Amino acid sequence: ARVRRAATVDDLRTIARRHTPRSVFDYVDGSAETERSTARALAAFERVEFRPKVLRDVSQIDLTTTVLGRPAAMPLILAPTGFTRMMQHQGEFAVGAAAAAAGLPYTLSTMGTVSPERLAVARAQDPQDTSDLWMQLYLWQDREASRDLIARAAEHGYRALMLTVDTPVGGARLRDVRNGLTIPPSLTLRTLGDMSRHPSWWANLLTTEPLTFASLSSTGGTVSEMVDRVFDPRAGLDDLAWLRSIWSGPLIIKGVQTAADARMVVDAGADAVVISNHGGRQLDRATTPLEELPAVLDAVGDDTEVYLDGGVRSGADVAAAVALGARAVLVGRAYLYGLMAGGQDGVARALEILRTDLRRTMALLGVTRIEDLTREVARLREHG
Ligand code: FNR
Repeated sequence: ARVRRAATVDDLRTIARRHTPRSVFDYVDGSAETERSTARALAAFERVEFRPKVLRDVSQIDLTTTVLGRPAAMPLILAPTGFTRMMQHQGEFAVGAAAAAAGLPYTLSTMGTVSPERLAVARAQDPQDTSDLWMQLYLWQDREASRDLIARAAEHGYRALMLTVDTPVGGARLRDVRNGLTIPPSLTLRTLGDMSRHPSWWANLLTTEPLTFASLSSTGGTVSEMVDRVFDPRAGLDDLAWLRSIWSGPLIIKGVQTAADARMVVDAGADAVVISNHGGRQLDRATTPLEELPAVLDAVGDDTEVYLDGGVRSGADVAAAVALGARAVLVGRAYLYGLMAGGQDGVARALEILRTDLRRTMALLGVTRIEDLTREVARLREHG
């Protein structure tokens, strides 16, 4: 019920902060080093100027679109986020169910805390659920483990594979270092006070099953220790060719940050790219996706779907990104704030807020269909 009162994603963030241990909230909310990448992503959306058309009949607004040739209720995809059961004990099940109810694709992370099999089975029980599950992939040093995960995803109907390429090593998430965050969270002198202020969160963590992973048996330590232990810093273009040869479905490359690299991965067989700097959690001061979008669109042409993420917090942000040329956007924190604020209801509320905003923004812009969101109705100002 408390999430009903949230009018914006930011309101959900405020509720989430109250209901979650500081170290967990900071893991979601934080970024790498100075956190400038995130500040810039948010600032770029503030620079958007809408150019509304008036005296258009906007009584009927259609938010539906297609991504990778499949219907989506709006141009929005739920991004992969690791350790989701740590944020709130229902984790990926709650996010998956809310995404399905909203008719949107959801991407399970390789660092997800529910296996691809169990998530697929949970969704299959709902006959109304027709939207797609996608699988995100990090390349492990152990390629056989990666191959196994891909085979499991294919077998259980995951429609697209999303390879994340911005994480050869872990970013320096300084809030996590200062908070002493480990996966799973552990009680130490440093974390005791924080955890004891959130007894129900802690009880839920202890009474639900341990935080196990889709394809990883070794856990423990800090996030960057885990990344450095299992991720492969040698991954290169030949690995992309290998993936292309073993995965016949749509292949999306996430974490492309320049036009030249977008061209490179499309030439290597990618069907779609996500312009992303991992929500500012990897390379600090990386390019800002919304600002990079025009160059990437020029470089890859019309046959490739281009998505972007980082800093999308409202339906107006979705409208802006689409008007500037993105096929769709991904959101990470927007739904995680909802999850921490109120489980599945909170995720549903976040998606409802985004949908309502998008519909209202389109009406005020004088456009009634997603394909009418074009550069005619939005531009980026030089300064805020
Ligand atoms: C992420 N992100 C991410 N990306 C990925 O490819 N695999 C992963 O496991 C994760 N894990 C993860 C955890 C958390 C807590 C966050 C906030 C983000 C990045 C994510 O997919 C997406 O790129 C960003 O979240 C987009 O920025 P916003 O929407 O959070 O501003």
